[in-house]
Amino acid sequence: CRIIVLFSGNGSNLQAIIDKCHLQGGAEIVAAVSNREDAFGLERAKTAAITTEVLDHKGFDSREAYDQALMALLDNYQPDLLVLAGFMRILTPEFVSHYQGRMLNIHPSLLPKYQGLNTHQRAIDAGDKEHGASVHFVTEELDGGPVALQARVPVFEDDTAEDLAARVHEQEHQIYPLVVSWFAAQRLSMSDGAAILDENRL
Ligand code: GRF
Repeated sequence: CRIIVLFSGNGSNLQAIIDKCHLQGGAEIVAAVSNREDAFGLERAKTAAITTEVLDHKGFDSREAYDQALMALLDNYQPDLLVLAGFMRILTPEFVSHYQGRMLNIHPSLLPKYQGLNTHQRAIDAGDKEHGASVHFVTEELDGGPVALQARVPVFEDDTAEDLAARVHEQEHQIYPLVVSWFAAQRLSMSDGAAILDENRL
C-alpha cells in the first residue's frame, strides 16, 4: 500500500505512522507532503529517509488552482492512500472526489460532535465528561465522513484545553496507525458512505 501523509505542522501523528506502519505489513510512506516549508514534520520524514515535498499555497491564486497542482504532485507517486495528519487546508470537492474512499483524516473530537476548530475548549465549555479523537474517511462534508475508529478520554474538572489536547494526542498516536494498518491490509474500505471493517459496517 503506497501511502502519502499530508501535514502542516509538528507532525506527531506522522511520526506515529512512521514508527508503527512504515515498511510494515506491506505499507510504505512514499512521500511526506506539507503546504508549509517550516513544518517540523518535514524533519521527521527526512530522519526516516522518506521523500518530502513542499507545495506552498501562497503562490496560487485560488483554492482550485492549488488543489489541481497538489493532485498532480501526489498522483506522480501513485498513492493508494492519502493520510491527512494536521493538514490545515480545506479541500475542494474535486480533490475530495478524486481521492474518495482512499483518504483518511484524524479529527480531535468524538465526531459528529465538534466539527471544525477549538474542539478541546468547546468540550470543556460544554461540561463534557468525555472527549476524544476520530479517524474518518474524508467526504465532501468537512469533518463529516464515515468514522473508522474513535478513542475516548476523560475530561477532568480542572483541565485546561492544553491538558485535554495532550491526553487526546496520546490516543491519536494509537488509533491513527491502527486504522492505516487496517487499510493497508485491505481490511478497511468505504462503501455506500459507510466505513467497512472486515465486512462489518462500522
Ligand atoms: C491533531 O490534533 C489532529 O487531530 C488535528 O491536527 C493535529 C495534528 O497534530 N487534525 P500533529 O501535527 O500530528 O502533532
